[in-house]
Amino acid sequence: MTFHIREADWSREGDVIRSIRTEVFILEQQVPESLEWDAEDPVCLHILARTGADQAIGTARLLGTGQIGRLAVLKPHRGHGAGRAMLGRLMEIAERRQFKQVFLNAQTHAVAFYRAFGFRERGTVFNEAGIPHVRMEKKLTHED
Ligand code: COA
Repeated sequence: MTFHIREADWSREGDVIRSIRTEVFILEQQVPESLEWDAEDPVCLHILARTGADQAIGTARLLGTGQIGRLAVLKPHRGHGAGRAMLGRLMEIAERRQFKQVFLNAQTHAVAFYRAFGFRERGTVFNEAGIPHVRMEKKLTHED
């Protein structure tokens, strides 16, 4: 399946991003609203995945620290490569920005998904919003 992945502007497209994250994290995964929304959203880089029919079905973000997060695909659209396409795009952006590494707090069910991109677990499993997580990191190839 083909997805169009592009950078999104929080001030113009925040409503679409919010609706995907509400559906996936707050309604499906029961993450409290107070944890879902933070001060990073207005200042970080967001991406949106759209279908060929221009329906927004996924989102993710990259912080200035190199932290990837809030990777979400609407349930009916999972398993068709949108998650992989978005993660790949964020890695390209991080490379272009010459980040030395990227990292994320992975829900443990998704560890294999991130390992396939070369992320490796660091440290021990911790609980956030009632969901077990583990930090994962990946060094980027360029060196200066
Ligand atoms: N655990 C293990 N493997 C997974 C996985 C998971 N949770 N989700 C996807 N994969 C695998 C797929 O089987 C696929 O492998 P394959 O090509 O060998 O079959 C590969 O990863 C790519 O899958 P893809 O179709 O690109 O993923 P997706 O579009 O379904 O999106 C998530 C993956 C995790 C973003 C999606 O399941 C989701 O939104 N989950 C709910 C929110 C969430 O948990 N986000 C992650 C927070 S860390």
